[in-house]
Amino acid sequence: MTTLDVLKAKYLEGIAAAADEASLEELRLAALGKKGEISLKMRELGQMTPEERTTTGAALNRLKDEIDAALRAKKEALADAALDARLKSEWLDVTLPGRPRRAGTIHPVSQVMDEVTAIFADMGFAVAEGPQVESDWYNFDALNIAPEHPARQEHDTFFMARDAADPRPPHVLRTHTSPVQIRAMQAKGAPIRVIAPGRVYRMDMDQTHAPMFHQVEGLAIGRDISMANLKWVLEEFCKTFFEVPSVELRFRASHFPFTEPSAEVDIRCSWEGGQLKIGEGNSWLEILGSGMVHPKVLAAGGIDPTEYQGFAFGVGIDRIAMLKYGIPDLRAFFESDLRWLKHYGFAALDLPTVFGGLSK
Ligand code: PHE
Repeated sequence: MTTLDVLKAKYLEGIAAAADEASLEELRLAALGKKGEISLKMRELGQMTPEERTTTGAALNRLKDEIDAALRAKKEALADAALDARLKSEWLDVTLPGRPRRAGTIHPVSQVMDEVTAIFADMGFAVAEGPQVESDWYNFDALNIAPEHPARQEHDTFFMARDAADPRPPHVLRTHTSPVQIRAMQAKGAPIRVIAPGRVYRMDMDQTHAPMFHQVEGLAIGRDISMANLKWVLEEFCKTFFEVPSVELRFRASHFPFTEPSAEVDIRCSWEGGQLKIGEGNSWLEILGSGMVHPKVLAAGGIDPTEYQGFAFGVGIDRIAMLKYGIPDLRAFFESDLRWLKHYGFAALDLPTVFGGLSK
């Protein structure tokens, strides 16, 4: 084997085995660089006889071209392999259809809770929370509902199991969100402005009642908060929530142990052709209970009733969801029927905001 054959074998094998561009470049410099082996051989041509020079020169040039071509081919092959690997790792089958049938929807109750929260947040109300398994004291006593008070019976309470030997009253599944009033007052003191949306429980079941349903409590305490503030806040809420330019509310004197005075609030509506319209017509629909927080309730929350006063209200979320979105049967809310959810549900990414639109 001639020296050139040895060189040729060495470099072509090296190029074939190179795993990346950097090793290819190393090989190029070693062979064809200024001080590369082939270049040095070229320089020796000067000391040769003219005949030697012709044959060796031509052979050297061929070798140089061969190595050059091998380098280029390998470089291209490496680039192709890199691209292939990248295409494989970033593969995306654009021919696959989307899966609209699998898209989940937001339950009307969640949607309405988000809407209510957005509206009250806009009026400066923070969100407060409390436990669903509540003590007898928070659910009743602190709200001025003494053990012998008839309201306890009206609430159709679910009681948690308690050891028969335990003298303490059993915990209950909260029958309303009002206990969160007490918890919020204890946690934050006055002045305070909160709403408390959440689940509540009563032993009741028909077309308009479910054993578990949802309320949103409202509480605003300050030095000079009055019924007038309550009226304005509720009117603003109803207009924004029902997305109508004006509403008319009717305050009916009522009784709750935890408010004095107390009022149930009806909203003017019409039922033309079975279609409910809010804000006009000759019918009234009860939508919430409210009143001025009873001094005993303020005291139970650790707030001095001689210094502070305020209003509270409780709205049935399921109820106003049925009204706003024309849903006839409450029980369907809790049946998880996918056809129902698809019909009444909301797009998952449309978060309700007061300025951007509540229900779009
Ligand atoms: N807690 C009452 C209910 O569940 C509603 C209410 C809340 C009334 C706050 C007045 C004030 O019926």
